[in-house]
Amino acid sequence: MNLRAAIIAFSILLSSAAWAAPPFEVEDPMRGPTPIAEEADPPLISPIENKDIKRMRTYSMQPPTIPHKIDGYQIDKNYNRCLACHARVNTEETQAPPLSVTHYMDRDSNVLAEVSPRRYFCVQCHVPQAEAKPLVSNTYQDIDGILKRLTAPATDKK
Ligand code: HEC
Ligand code: HEC
Repeated sequence: MNLRAAIIAFSILLSSAAWAAPPFEVEDPMRGPTPIAEEADPPLISPIENKDIKRMRTYSMQPPTIPHKIDGYQIDKNYNRCLACHARVNTEETQAPPLSVTHYMDRDSNVLAEVSPRRYFCVQCHVPQAEAKPLVSNTYQDIDGILKRLTAPATDKK
C-alpha cells in the first residue's frame, strides 16, 4: 500500500468510527437533555420582577438592576421614557432616584449640564430581572467576604 492509499484508508476508518460513536454526552442547562440534532421546546418567558425594592449592588460600580417593569418604554433619539422619571428635574414629582453625577460626565470626566450621550441609552447597562432560577450556577464571592478573610488574624485562618 502506498502512502496515499494508507491515508485514505485511515481517514475512512476514522470517519466511520466517528459515526459509530455514541452521541455526545453533553447536557447544556439551557437546552436540557434534548439531543443536539433536535429542537428543544422554548421555555416560557419568565415574569419580570416588579417589586419596587432596590436590590443590593454586587460591587460598588455595578449599574443597579431595575426594580420595576420597563415594558414598552420608548428610548430613542426623540424621547427617553426613563428620564421622564429619573431626570434631575422630575425626581421631586416621581420620587425616582436621580441619575448619579457619572451620567453627566464625558469621557474626559468633564461634568456636562445634560446627560452625557454615552449614558443616554439606559438599558445598555441597566436591566430588569426575571423571576427565574439561574440557568448556570457560579461561585462569585462578595468582596466584603474576601476582605474579611484576608484581614482576619492568622490564627483564625483555616
Ligand atoms: C414612572 C416613573 C419611572 C420610569 C418611567 C422609570 N423609572 Fe426607574 N425607578 C422609578 C422609581 C420610583 C424607582 C425607585 C424604586 C421603585 O419604586 O421602583 C426606580 C428605580 C430605578 C432603578 C434602581 C436604582 C437603584 O439605586 O437601585 C434603576 C436602575 C432604574 N429605575 C432605571 C430605570 C430605567 C433604565 C428606566 C427606563 C427604561 C426607568 N427606570 C424608568 C421610577 C421610574
Ligand atoms: C454606560 C453604562 C450606563 C448607562 C448607559 C446608564 N447608566 Fe445608570 N448607572 C451606571 C452605573 C455604573 C451606576 C452605578 C455607579 C454610578 O452611579 O455611576 C449607575 C447608577 C444609576 C442610578 C443610581 C444612582 C444613585 O445615585 O444611586 C440610576 C437611578 C441610574 N443609573 C439610572 C440610569 C438611567 C435612567 C439611564 C439612562 C438615561 C442610565 N442610568 C444610563 C451605568 C450606566
